[in-house]
Amino acid sequence: MTGSNSTIPLPSQRHLFDIPDDVAFLNCAYISPLPKASALAGESGMRRKLRPWTIMPTDFFSTSETVRVRFADLINAQADDIAFASAVSYGMAQAAHNISLARTQTIVTLAEQFPSNVYPWMDLAERSGARFVTVPRPPDDDWTAALLAHIDNSTGVVAVPHCHWTDGGLIDLEAIGASCRRVGAVLCVDGTQSVGALPFDVKRIDPDYLAVAAYKWLLGPYSFGFLYVAPRRQNGRPIEHNWIARRDSEDFAGLVNYRSEFQHGARRFDVGERSNFALMPVVEASLRLIMDWDVSRILAALTRRTEQIAQRARTEFGVESVPADRRAGHYLGLRFRGGVPPELPARLAAENVHVSVRGSAMRITPHLWNTDADVEKLFAVLKKGVR
Ligand SMILES: Cc1ncc(COP(=O)(O)O)c(C=O)c1O
Repeated sequence: MTGSNSTIPLPSQRHLFDIPDDVAFLNCAYISPLPKASALAGESGMRRKLRPWTIMPTDFFSTSETVRVRFADLINAQADDIAFASAVSYGMAQAAHNISLARTQTIVTLAEQFPSNVYPWMDLAERSGARFVTVPRPPDDDWTAALLAHIDNSTGVVAVPHCHWTDGGLIDLEAIGASCRRVGAVLCVDGTQSVGALPFDVKRIDPDYLAVAAYKWLLGPYSFGFLYVAPRRQNGRPIEHNWIARRDSEDFAGLVNYRSEFQHGARRFDVGERSNFALMPVVEASLRLIMDWDVSRILAALTRRTEQIAQRARTEFGVESVPADRRAGHYLGLRFRGGVPPELPARLAAENVHVSVRGSAMRITPHLWNTDADVEKLFAVLKKGVR
């Protein structure tokens, strides 16, 4: 997972993306651009449907099994532990469908957490009578301590991200995983804003479920995602029943010999029509690129970039952010005193500087396509707009 050069930051990889020189796209946490190679793979994937007679029964399995292996490698899992999901909400629905709680138990989440990792748990709380608990935002940005203080013997589920989607506030998932195991709670992680940029090791964190949408830090397409299911959870009941998840589905002539057995491991949780001839090759190409770069080296480069921006924002404008030791290195939220100036987002967009406002923070999420010139463009607008 991490090579010997893991802390050497990668240089700019802008040439691999189709980003005009005058665009400063600092918004990977919104939607990443597709690498050019992934778009080409998608074009040939889409073209297959022009000639369906060239699509063989084995094609329903081959690319998806390769992609399963690639994603498993990224998080130090086995291919058998990976299911395809259309979205995080889908993955969390699979998880929530397979957890029984008593009325005396709690489901623990963070304040202002992304809704796809909140609504499925509100629904489970309603169905089971369990109590839905929100950990308030800690004034010192120490989400790990705040979360640990809410985990006790009554905790049934802990549903959290690896870093907060508004400002990158980091959660020590190894500590949370250990605490969950101590009290017998189920750990469900939304890795959408981290996997691909922040190393994630299922062997060290040991989550029960990890859902990841592909269109941000995995540099993949929209409507595509993954669900890691721990081996101890792989005998569960899926929320939908599709033909390909059943044993011997490779035998197209025998599909009506209905089977009660499933394919191996987490495959029973695959979303219907997961073979996805147009998008699967896109995901494969993007995952290959991320693995070639090495997540640790991506993180090293992005940490350097966000830290430079955070320091300049502090010294030039007195704008603070989550301290570096409590923030995921790839992620930054600038906290303007009195809130983000209302006209600033429009002013930035007019200058082709792309960031997001989430909660009270201005979220700046660079990637390897960014250059020093992009950062200069950002500060040129801030200089005019922040008093
Ligand atoms: C933390 C987080 N999780 C999930 C998603 C996307 O959720 P879904 O795949 O359910 O649309 C987003 C999108 O912004 C996000 O920020």
